[in-house]
This record gives sequence, C-alpha cells and structure tokens, in this order.
Amino acid sequence: MDFIPHVIDGQETESASGDRFASVDPWTREPWAEVALGGPQDADRAVQAARRAFDEGPWPRMGYAERGALLHRFAALIEENADALALADTTDMGKPISDARSRDVPRAAANYRFFADHARLATGEVLPMDTGHHAYTRFESAGVVAAIAPWNFPLMLESWKVAPALAWGNTVVLKPAEDSPASATLMASLALRAGLPPGVLNVLHGYGPGSAGAALTEHPSVDRITFTGESATGRVIARAASANLVPVSLELGGKGANIVFDDAELGNAVDWSIRAIFSNAGQVCLAGSRLYVQRGIYDEFTDRFVAAAQALVAGDPKDDATQLGPLASQEHYKKVRSYLDSIEADGGTIRTGGLGEGWVVLPTVVENAPPTARICREEVFGPVVTITGFDTDEEAIAQANDTRYGLNAMVFTQNLSRAHRAAAALAAGTVWVNCFFIRDLRAPFGGVGDSGIGREGGTFSREFFTEPKAVVMQV
Ligand code: NAI
Ligand code: MG
Repeated sequence: MDFIPHVIDGQETESASGDRFASVDPWTREPWAEVALGGPQDADRAVQAARRAFDEGPWPRMGYAERGALLHRFAALIEENADALALADTTDMGKPISDARSRDVPRAAANYRFFADHARLATGEVLPMDTGHHAYTRFESAGVVAAIAPWNFPLMLESWKVAPALAWGNTVVLKPAEDSPASATLMASLALRAGLPPGVLNVLHGYGPGSAGAALTEHPSVDRITFTGESATGRVIARAASANLVPVSLELGGKGANIVFDDAELGNAVDWSIRAIFSNAGQVCLAGSRLYVQRGIYDEFTDRFVAAAQALVAGDPKDDATQLGPLASQEHYKKVRSYLDSIEADGGTIRTGGLGEGWVVLPTVVENAPPTARICREEVFGPVVTITGFDTDEEAIAQANDTRYGLNAMVFTQNLSRAHRAAAALAAGTVWVNCFFIRDLRAPFGGVGDSGIGREGGTFSREFFTEPKAVVMQV
C-alpha cells in the first residue's frame, strides 16, 4: 500500500506518534494508501518550520520576479506531472479522471501562474495630499498562512489558497482534507523540486476537530487562516481565529439558485444547468441545486433536462468515458442517501435518479418539493436538483433569495434588461448569466450569508494575504 507522509521543512515525514490513517478509494471501497496522522506536535513542527522560513529564510525577501519565476517552474512541474496528480485525486475521492486531467490540474497550474504574475505586476497607490505630504501604500507579506482545504477539488482548491499566499511572500502550512490527502504531498514535493526553499510550503495531514486541523487553527504563530468547507466548520474555525485575532477567509457551503426564464435559449440553458448540478457528482459548493423554471417552458425544459441527466455515464472514475463517479466517502454517501430518503416524506417526487452501484448516486431530479422541504433548504452536496416553477420575475428572485446561503446564482435569459435586473437583485457573491463556473481570477470570489466571509481573487487575495501599509512622508 502507498504511504502518504507529511512534508515539513523540506522533508517527507511520519507523525511524531507514528500514527497513520487509511485513505479509501470510493470506487473500490477499499483502503488504497496509509497517511501520516498529524496531531498537535506535528502541527507545531509544521508551523515552526513555516515561521523560520518566513522570519529568516529567503522567500519573503527575494522579490516578486525571482519568486514568480520559481512559481512558474512549479506550475510547469504540475503540468508535467498531470497524470499522477489527476490519478491521486481520482483515487482519493472518485472524481472522473477526465475532469481531473482536463480541468483540475490545468487550473491548479494556472492559479500558480496567475498569482505569480499578478503579484509581480501589481501597483500600489499614491495618495496626493493637499497638505503637501506624500502618502503611498505598500503590501507587506503577512507571515505564516494556515490553509485548510476540502476534498471536492483537492489540488485545485489547495492551489487557489497556496498560490496567492506564496506569491505575496508568505509561507504556508496546508492541511488537505482527510479524504483527499495524496495530491497535496505530491504537490509539495514538486514545489521542492522547483526550488522553493524548505519550510515555504508544508503539508500536514490529519482530521479536523481534536486533530491536525484544530491544532493548526489554534496555533499562536499563525498569521492568516484560509478555509474552504462546511459552514458549521467555518464557525468553529472563526472562533479559533478570534482567540488569536487572526484574519480569516471562509469559503463555505452553497445552495445555488438557477433561474431559467421563458425567453432563454433552451439548449444552452439545459447544457449549463446539467453541468451546474451534475459535474463532480454535485459535490461543488457552487452547484446549481435549485432550478427555477418559468411556467411557459417548464415542461419542455424539464423533459430535455431529465433526458440529458439520464444520458450521463456513471461508473468507474478511472474510466475515461465516466462523467459521474461515486461520492467521495461512505460518510458522505450516507448523508446524501438520507436526503434522498427525506424527499417523498417532505412532499417531493423523484422524477429520475436514485442509488447506483456502490457509493454512486445517479443524477436525481426532484419535482413538487415545497420550499420548506430539507431538499430545498440544506446543502446536499450530491447530484440532486429540485425543479420549481414560477410565473413572474419577482417570484423567481424571491424564491432564489429564500436561503441562508449566497455563494452564487445563475440566470438564463436572452433579455438584456432582465439579466441585469436579476443580477443586481440576487443576493450572491457571483451571478452567472447564460453560463456557469466561468472564472476570471481577478474577480472577487466568495459568498454572502452562511456562504462565507471575505473574498479571494486578484486584489482581493492581495488584501487578505498581505498587511496593507500606509506610508506618509513630509516633503
Ligand atoms: P469539513 O468542513 O468537515 O472539512 C473541510 C476541512 O476542514 C477538512 O480539511 C477538515 O479536516 C477540516 N476541519 C474540519 N473540522 C475542523 C476544525 N474544527 N478545525 C480545523 N479544521 C477542521 O467538510 P467535510 O466533512 O469534508 O464535508 C462535509 C460538507 O461540507 C459537505 O457535505 C458539504 O456540504 C460541505 N463542503 C463544502 C465545500 C465547499 O467547497 N464550500 C467543500 C467541501 C465540503
Ligand atoms: Mg466533516
């Protein structure tokens, strides 16, 4: 069986205790690797290594061009090792290998390249003062960043945190999710090969509560905490951060609304709506899990949507043809299954879908669910979508905003005014019009309400991963 060590101070290492845990392949449902199980002692070792690399090492001092060149070399190694990285994520958490290869890995590399360039090319501000003083801004590296990642896009979401943190001269301790540890250790070894100094990117494995995750967020030498995962976990991490007055960035759950107006281009709306809920088996914080369809096109849209859902190829995620793999873990499978069990009791009907082989849940379409049903209110994080009809624009917006989440929403319409009105009225961090998941890395990314605190991306990442400083000089 493979062994997945921590990477601390440039060394692959066991835990101080020697403890290990298993990573389970959700398709075979068998353990495929043993992973170092970190505890408080290992968290301390990793944070001290990052602290030394920041306080004494070359990384924060080398300047944007040199750091950027190393990050580009790192990105190139990620691209060269795409097959191994994709296989690591697919084996750990069951995402289709074709998605891992064609989306997750290239996006991870692109994140390093983008933030390397963004930091190098960024400008500060000069603030002309009437008093004759000269005021300007600087962006100092913040220090040691604790990055805590989820299992749904392991490599890609880790790079979304690690890349801006490194580009702005910080050092990092990354704790991958316990269900998807493998690609992070591989990524850290590639960073060392690229020439990043030891201690700049450390990887610490383990669980959250009472384990590596909690120890990391409670550590007094950490300067920033960036977290993506469950809203309930975000609350716990925010409390830990408050004890040390550490800025925290939280990207949490979602219950994305997807509004299809009667003037939408139907083929386009069906294609994107399918991708929005069924890619990565619906294990996407941005998933369009609540579809609202205007009555005039309800039947036609729904028939086409259901046919497209049934055409998706479910099965072995290592097979190139597979579009929908198993859910990431047994625990998660049981959670999604309990939502399926709630649907009819809560008044909904299942038009298509249900359980597949092993931990596969087939693309599931639910109709007639009342807005109070659990399936309409809670984040399922699986391939399950509710479809609800509406008459007026106002009704659609009110239904879409009837949630404690607010990460993103989608709108399909050919009417420009309607699109702009809806985009303004939707309470969400991102609104996609006639598309889904198209990203410009300069744009703010984050959520309102229970979907999180703060924004990352471009200058928003700079704000979080630096200490912005004002310098005022008498001339
Ligand atoms: P989780 O929030 O429990 O775990 C995410 C990460 O946080 C993992 O690395 C975990 O070890 C760590 N963690 C957990 N508790 C911690 C603590 N007290 N202190 C420090 N670190 C801690 O999410 P989980 O269990 O992996 O997924 C459960 C649900 O979370 C999903 O069903 C979904 O609803 C949501 N989720 C949302 C994601 C998003 O992208 N917004 C991504 C993954 C999960
Ligand atoms: Mg959990």
